[in-house]
Order: sequence, then structure tokens, then C-alpha cells
Amino acid sequence: MCSLWLIAFFMNLYKTICRPLFFKLDAERAHEVVMESLKIASTFPWLLRPLSDLICGRRPSAPCRVAGIDFPHPIGLAAGMDKNGVALAAWEALGFGFIEVGTITAHAQPGNPKPRLFRFPEQEALINRLGFNNEGAAAVARRLTLLKEKGCWPRIPVGINIGKSRVTPAAEAAQDYLASYRQLRELGDYYVINVSSPNTPGLRDLQAKEALSTIVKTLRDAEITQPLFVKVAPDLAEEDLIAIVQLAEEEKLAGLIATNTTLDHQSIPSALDQTGGLSGAPLRARSLQALKVIRTHTQLPIIASGGITDAATASERLSAGASLLQVYTAFVYQGPAILRKLLS
Ligand SMILES: Cc1cc2nc3c(=O)[nH]c(=O)nc-3n(C[C@H](O)[C@H](O)[C@H](O)COP(=O)(O)O)c2cc1C
Repeated sequence: MCSLWLIAFFMNLYKTICRPLFFKLDAERAHEVVMESLKIASTFPWLLRPLSDLICGRRPSAPCRVAGIDFPHPIGLAAGMDKNGVALAAWEALGFGFIEVGTITAHAQPGNPKPRLFRFPEQEALINRLGFNNEGAAAVARRLTLLKEKGCWPRIPVGINIGKSRVTPAAEAAQDYLASYRQLRELGDYYVINVSSPNTPGLRDLQAKEALSTIVKTLRDAEITQPLFVKVAPDLAEEDLIAIVQLAEEEKLAGLIATNTTLDHQSIPSALDQTGGLSGAPLRARSLQALKVIRTHTQLPIIASGGITDAATASERLSAGASLLQVYTAFVYQGPAILRKLLS
């Protein structure tokens, strides 16, 4: 009884105290504050887990095996939240079933000019045009290697999402993905080729079958041993999605992630609109539709991402054929309580 009360208290803490404080800050500043706090917390992994067990009670368990990897449950943190892999222990302690680090690029890059992240609370949405701000593959590889060496690696699967550096011309994209993979090759349980962010000029063109096939074959030639996923945009025409599914089958990819953010901003009042990728509740229908198209054409595992905000949307994705689910925007609006909500 007492533990139920404690759970309810801490779960409500985010909505009643933390979120109002964070939402007083600019959206990216709030993200930085959260990441700094989780980074500090992650330096005490031996304390984090017992503390989170005490606060949250028994962690959720719904074990599943996807692409040969064992997951404690199917809800993970989507790419973009922890781009540099600074808070792995904290994500595990918060109860995520897996984490996707990145997007990481071969070259360190600052991303687009600020402001570049915007909240739309009425729509439970975000728009971002961050543009793959990250420390670069070498720096992230050093950090993750150190974690492994110190025995501080989380006990949940860690995916690594890689993208093309902005300075690299499209014609050299495959070598750029390969350079990132080479730096990070010992570290991920699975890898993601991200060709679907709308914020790097020309990146989405790499979803075309020939361009994508070159990237996949280049990674294969480097003898990638871990499962390889491709993350797709929700704005692709059906025939383009099907072409990617065919490629995934031909190249024996592990599966697909459906989807990244959308360029369809109809749900945002035009006076408030911003350039960038829209995520959260307004993305839900498009992501679900993409998932259904993909599932009609393949039995490969699909990781669903986009507008998963409650138990109903989670179970809708699972019923539509998703093997795993990822959240980003719902975590911003609902905090860690989102995990229990999705698993209920
Ligand atoms: C601020 C922000 C940054 C993101 N950065 C990345 C990224 O670096 N790489 C990536 O593959 N997806 C990125 N995404 C997309 C998310 O991983 C996710 O696919 C998308 O937001 C849809 O899920 P959601 O509706 O739960 O947010 C980002 C999303 C947001 C909101």
C-alpha cells in the first residue's frame, strides 16, 4: 500500500513540479538541463538502480526477443534524446527496455542555428530542426568504450543510430556511414541507418533504393555482425516504402524503424509553425499507416516510433505488427510515468 502511494507520488512529481519548471525554460535549454542531470546521475550506477527500485517498485517485465536480441520489455527510448550516449545508466534506471543512442555522424557537428526546438503543448507535439548536433563518432565511441571497460554498461540493449555528416556530399554518403560504423563497431547491440531526418539537406534522398542499397552494401562489406535497421520517414509514398521493404528483404536487414518525424504540419496553427520535423500526437496516424504498409509486405521486425502516447496507441502498434516501440515526445510531456502507462 505504502509502496503504491510512493509510486503514485513520484510519478506525479514530473507533471506537477518538474514539467512546469522545465516548460518555463526554452525547449532546448530544458533538454540540456535534463541531460546534464541524468549524466550526473549516470556516474553513480550502483546507487541509481536500487534507488529507482525503491521509488518505482518492481521494474516492468514483458521479455521479448527481436532480431536475436533479448529485451526486458518492448518500450525503448527513441533516437535523438541521448545523442552522445551520456546517460545510459539513467535510462535503464528509469525503466526503459532499450535505448537508441544518436544520431551520431562521422564528423562532430554543431547542428543548425538556435532556436531549433519548439513545444506545442496543445497538440502534445514538438518541432525540431536540430540537424544532428553531436560530438562525432570518435568521441562517442571513446565514451561508450570507457563505460564498457569500467563495467558500467547498462543491462538493457543499446542501439546505435548513425547519420550522414552535413559536410559530406551525398555521393560519399556510404563512406561516411562506414566511417561512423568503424568507430562504433564493438559497441551497439544493433545499428540504425538513419536516412529519414528532415533536417540535413538531401538526407531523405538517401532513402531511394539505389542510394540506400550502396550504404547497406558498404556496411555489409565491412562485415557488420550486429542486426542492422533502417529508419524511414512517414512522408514517403507507398511505393517508395515498398521499395525499401524489398531492399531490406534482399539485403537481409534485421528490420525497419517506422517512423521518423513528419514534414506535414497541418495540425499546427500556421502563425506558430516552424521549419523542421514534427513529432508527438499529430504524427500518430502517419506512423501507423507506414507501419501497416510495411507489415503488409514483410515479416521482418518493425520498431514503431511516432505519436505513441498511451496504452491504447501502444497496443494499436503492437496489433498492427510492431515488435518493439520507441518514445520521445511523450517522455517530454509525461515524464518517466509514460513507461508504466504504456506497459499497463
Ligand atoms: C528533438 C528531437 C530530436 C530527434 N533527433 C533524432 C535523431 O537524432 N535521430 C533520429 O533518428 N530521430 C530523431 N528524432 C526522432 C525520434 O527518434 C522519433 O522517431 C520521433 O520523434 C517520433 O517519435 P515521438 O512521436 O515519440 O517523438 C528526434 C525527435 C525529436 C523530437
